[in-house]
Amino acid sequence: METKINNGSNILCVKGLKKYFPIHKGFFKRVTGHTKAVDGVDFYIKKGETVGLVGESGSGKTTVGRCIVRLYDPTDGRVEFCVNGEMKNLIDLGKKELKEVRKSIQMLFQDPFSSLNSRLRIKDIITEPLVIHEIGTPKERLERAKELLETVGITADNMNKFPHQFSGGQRQRIGIARALSINPELIICDEPVSALDVSVQAQVLNLLYDLQKKMNMSYLFIAHDLSVVEYISDRVMVMYLGKIVEIAFSDAIYQDPKHPYTEALLSSISKYQAGSTRRILIKGSIPDPSNPPTGCVFHTRCLYVKDICRMEIPELKATDDTAESFVACHFYKELDLKGYI
Ligand SMILES: Nc1ncnc2c1ncn2[C@@H]1O[C@H](COP(=O)(O)OP(=O)(O)OP(=O)(O)O)[C@@H](O)[C@H]1O
Ligand code: SF4
Ligand SMILES: [Mg+2]
Repeated sequence: METKINNGSNILCVKGLKKYFPIHKGFFKRVTGHTKAVDGVDFYIKKGETVGLVGESGSGKTTVGRCIVRLYDPTDGRVEFCVNGEMKNLIDLGKKELKEVRKSIQMLFQDPFSSLNSRLRIKDIITEPLVIHEIGTPKERLERAKELLETVGITADNMNKFPHQFSGGQRQRIGIARALSINPELIICDEPVSALDVSVQAQVLNLLYDLQKKMNMSYLFIAHDLSVVEYISDRVMVMYLGKIVEIAFSDAIYQDPKHPYTEALLSSISKYQAGSTRRILIKGSIPDPSNPPTGCVFHTRCLYVKDICRMEIPELKATDDTAESFVACHFYKELDLKGYI
């Protein structure tokens, strides 16, 4: 994939990323196969850009995020991050250097109930990254915690409370304050609103959007559903069974999808169904990632499948000269797929 074209402005460049989990069976727990959670993924994120990552459950979205922050060691591939203008492969870095770079990449988790340490007070939760990275004096850290709480819309007099004293939306705001504490350049947001009540989802999304504009951070924004990332993303990536099948600007994904799986995901969004003349249901369920289909990974469920799809893997190719949009389908030029205006 032609990622080098945008290198000057990239904050992150992921190349050939793979993560295979061993499957253990029997009394002796022998390895009998591998779950190919991420199977050769390439993409970049520019400075200040929000890139959405969507796909059905089990497609490998969280695993991509966890490999980037090195919560998982990838099986193969490169995770390059821009450090002082130079792209450094995080996989090659020693412990000390990695710790330094990790300050710039934070992860925001799906579940605000389990991701905050229930035994710590809010002020200690927010200042924990500062303590880990030995930044500031205790007094300065406390000041920073106050400032961050106010930034996410919680008054500073709540600092001594514990997580259980807050609602889900407030807890996710506290998680955001914690992620912001060391001025990250990239935040991996793993379904940060999906565990929240619908009524507070938009508020937290708005907060993330405003913070990003104010602080010029980059986001990798993971979601199940195209409707959640529509509002916040500059570009959107669609993932299926460990592979990225389409990357495009938000408007293009919604109005002019180029991959049959993107078309099917779009047609499953309920707000688009009213008035729609054609609802495309994806047949069957997602195949077993330990035994993915040959050829195009989507061929077992694709409405437009032809013989070649069962044999040849379609490469993720740029669809225009800007090299910002990509699709992995043998027939993307011929297919007339349906989007939504
Ligand atoms: N720690 C692990 N050990 C073994 N298998 C794992 C592990 N984490 C994920 N997997 C498997 O890898 C595949 C991808 O999982 P992953 O959690 O990345 O998907 P996801 O797209 O984030 O799904 P969801 O939308 O449900 O969060 C799944 O088949 C999952 O069972
Ligand atoms: S390559 Fe074939 S099976 Fe895969 S998405 Fe395109 S048309 Fe469908
Ligand atoms: Mg996930």
